[in-house]
Amino acid sequence: MMIPSLSFITLTVLSVVILTAAPAADAVSSQVVLDIAGHPVQSNDQYYIIPAKIGTGGGLIPSSRDLNTQDLCLNLDIVQSSSPFVSGLPVTFSPLDTKTKLVQLSTSLNLEFDSTVWLCPESKIWRIDHSVQLRKSFVSIGGEKGKGNSWFQIQEDGDAYKLMYCPSSSTVACINVSLEIDDLGARRLVLSNDQSFTVEFQKAYDSNSNCHLESNSRMFPFIISLWYPSS
Ligand SMILES: *[C@@H]1O[C@H](CO)[C@@H](O)[C@H](O)[C@H]1NC(C)=O
Repeated sequence: MMIPSLSFITLTVLSVVILTAAPAADAVSSQVVLDIAGHPVQSNDQYYIIPAKIGTGGGLIPSSRDLNTQDLCLNLDIVQSSSPFVSGLPVTFSPLDTKTKLVQLSTSLNLEFDSTVWLCPESKIWRIDHSVQLRKSFVSIGGEKGKGNSWFQIQEDGDAYKLMYCPSSSTVACINVSLEIDDLGARRLVLSNDQSFTVEFQKAYDSNSNCHLESNSRMFPFIISLWYPSS
């Protein structure tokens, strides 16, 4: 008669152990970056980086810093589309720790545009380009994986995220990536000492919805016309 009740106690103790162990598991998974559907952001999958606040522009695209230049590949900065209907170009995240499949908060990442349409010899990898003349640090393309000026991190910003430039793997040396609207109205990604750009991640080419794929392929001519304003 004692045996069933003993095993009941054992079970109860076991379930208490399992229940109390659960918050620890949660703490680990809360370090994972989530997309807008609530799924973990995976390294080397494609995501649109979109503003967290609705009605504040669209996704991210490359755009020449100087509209008067003949060389349209010169100083290609990353700008936010002013139209909320443009998702921009998809981005992939490559963690410094190549063994992790899930993108974690506050860890070193390389970011790269993933686009079949690419008209410049420069790489699609994001980097920081400091302009001495303009006394500003732009987020540009043409970076190199593993190089100091191409390391970024994703950190929490309210209930969404922000991008930070973190030349070393420590979070101490990070600087906010923010938006700055230039004289021509372009919304450029720059390093900032007082603001951040609050973003979310939307998976591109979601297999559950062909809708993104279609809207994306219709978008390409639009991107190109933004990129080459004179053509
Ligand atoms: C970075 O952005 C946060 C908002 O996420 C802001 O509170 C903080 O002041 C910014 N810090 C710097 C040094 O720019």
